[in-house]
Amino acid sequence: MSWDFKKIQEDIQEDFKSVVDEKTLESFRIKYVGKKGLISEIYASFPSLSSDEKAMVGKGANELKSIATKLIDERSVLLQSKTALSNRTSLDVTLPGVSRPIGHAHILTQTIHEICEIFEKLGFVIHDSPEIETEFNNFTALNIPVDHPSRDSFDTFYVDWPDQTNKGRKLLLRSQTSPGQIRVMQKYNPPFAVVIPGKVYRPDAVDASHSFMFHQIEGLLVDEAVRFSDLKGLLSAFCQKFFGSDIRMRFRPHFFPFTEPSAEVDVFWKAKDSWLEILGCGMVNPKVFDAVGYSKNKYRGLAFGLGVERMAMLKYGINDIRLFYENDVRFLNQF
Ligand code: DAH
Repeated sequence: MSWDFKKIQEDIQEDFKSVVDEKTLESFRIKYVGKKGLISEIYASFPSLSSDEKAMVGKGANELKSIATKLIDERSVLLQSKTALSNRTSLDVTLPGVSRPIGHAHILTQTIHEICEIFEKLGFVIHDSPEIETEFNNFTALNIPVDHPSRDSFDTFYVDWPDQTNKGRKLLLRSQTSPGQIRVMQKYNPPFAVVIPGKVYRPDAVDASHSFMFHQIEGLLVDEAVRFSDLKGLLSAFCQKFFGSDIRMRFRPHFFPFTEPSAEVDVFWKAKDSWLEILGCGMVNPKVFDAVGYSKNKYRGLAFGLGVERMAMLKYGINDIRLFYENDVRFLNQF
């Protein structure tokens, strides 16, 4: 018997077109590669063939077998994944999605960023400074006298670690960001302009306007020709940017040991019909330059320090400082 392999191959391709499910696939398999299928039949004809014919028919049968098996295997994988998909509970694309709320920076962080950004645009560089300080940096170098009440443990948190640079002295949690001025001046030579944001600590009883920890931003600019009018211009520009261009402000003479002359800045608060103090400032006291080894004949400096909570409370009408630390999302989500 002779086999028309080309014709059989065409039949296989043609028949395969009707293989659409497990059942038709099985009929196809039986028809061609089953035990009694066409290809087995070809192999069964072997004994009656001459050895030349055997070689030719064997080759043809093997080819048909591999074509049919390949088709069956591929379709079988496809049908299985189709079944798996249709067994799945259906997907309702009209259901509303699960939306995950996106967090945002805390209002104090936002305020710190906003204030620092204003000063950055005015040429200042942001500097970091440690929260644990020496008495020298927090008081002595800032011209705060040895018997000043702010050095008392009622006004400053002392840490139970000895100060390695000054035996017999304890380290402390900085009560102001001003010691950052000392660190910057010990490290760099003028001219420079820095802002130093960070936490400060004071053993105050907590109430609506006091906290044992709050945030300050320190500013320091040192150069050869700096005048009080530069300080006024700088802080006026800052207040207009932060509170709005119609803000009324005033410089009121004050005293700080580390600046001379010194002033406090008040802004007029329409809602309360009164002036509210927002920051302290002044021209760097030459004694501070002495403490860091700068030439007081050559250099002049301007400095300022502001309370972040106070600025945020004024800007957003927040009346209790404790709200910042309670992390009540109903409060935090407003900003
Ligand atoms: N360190 C002061 C305080 O905590 C604030 C301050 C006032 C900082 C005047 C300054 C300054 O740099 O010049 O009350």
